[in-house]
Amino acid sequence: MFDSLKYHLKNASDAILYSDDKNFQNVAITFLYNELDEASQQSLIESQKDTETPEGFCLAPSEAANCMLDTNRTVKFVRGLVGAIEEAQNRNPGERISILYAGCGPFATLSLPVTAIFTPDDIGFTVLDIHEASIQNAKRIIRLLGLRNYFDEYVCQNALDYFATHQEKKFDVIITETMASALFDEPQAAITTKAAPLLKKNGIFVPERIVIGVKLKVYKAVNADDFGHIPVGDIFTLTKDTKPDSFSPRLRANFEIPPGLEDDLPFSIVLNTKIKVFGPHVLDEGEAGITRPVTLKRKYQKRDGSKFHISYPLGGDPKELRIRVVE
Ligand SMILES: C[S@@+](CC[C@H](N)C(=O)[O-])C[C@H]1O[C@@H](n2cnc3c(N)ncnc32)[C@H](O)[C@@H]1O
Repeated sequence: MFDSLKYHLKNASDAILYSDDKNFQNVAITFLYNELDEASQQSLIESQKDTETPEGFCLAPSEAANCMLDTNRTVKFVRGLVGAIEEAQNRNPGERISILYAGCGPFATLSLPVTAIFTPDDIGFTVLDIHEASIQNAKRIIRLLGLRNYFDEYVCQNALDYFATHQEKKFDVIITETMASALFDEPQAAITTKAAPLLKKNGIFVPERIVIGVKLKVYKAVNADDFGHIPVGDIFTLTKDTKPDSFSPRLRANFEIPPGLEDDLPFSIVLNTKIKVFGPHVLDEGEAGITRPVTLKRKYQKRDGSKFHISYPLGGDPKELRIRVVE
């Protein structure tokens, strides 16, 4: 079985790193997922549920494992991580690149294909997750794959507590994918803005940038099902440099309805998400589950106003979103 696991990791790594054939990527990633699932300790993985924290909830190990099957997400994040490691090597010639993988889940998914490119002399991972079951299972998978030399440390802790208590640690790269569309629900925003003290001066945070934008879904006639989209603009950008003082737990922004919209046509407000993972590796709106557009329920018409204020807790429940017409 374990030779089969190694075979499927190699196959999926080839698909992720060297092929643009979506079908090959889907099949290879699904086969690898099945192998990882079989090699896992199911009772352990199923023993833990979601964990709520003030900054967002942390996916249960079984759901975190499933994230791998969002193929575009997995491909772009792995490619982005490889790009970030190569850039870190350029910035620090001859050094072993240290990577903190915050929220590794039970398969340490994003780290595995990277081992097809680099040697354990090139890179070392610290993998961290809030769920003990994920850390124990990731350790098991890494041992079965014979990849232990790539992994320096396994940490079971809330990433935010780890950042607060380990500021002496300095990593070349920190990667996390702890997010849902529009930065609702999960703690990506908090993790991104609090990671800086653990990055070397020239360190790289992955993803580099997450942008939330607004567009309008305009129904072509009153009571119509068919619609068109009008872009409004970006309302929020998250990077490692988003300052804690300008970063409050809420996203707050104003936006204006573009002129030219007919008075009586109803429209909905749509939040879109774009992720620049690293360099050219970008996940555009709708390309992955985590960039799925979010259409807000209420419909408006132009007479309701043309300037809006939006506010919601990053990492919070979409039900807490508030929209107010300003004028
Ligand atoms: C969306 S899953 C991603 C799993 C895997 N890294 C992948 O990319 O397929 C997020 C993982 O991050 C973990 N996580 C979320 N918030 C965390 C936090 N504040 N501290 C530590 N782990 C966290 C969850 O437990 C879960 O395993």
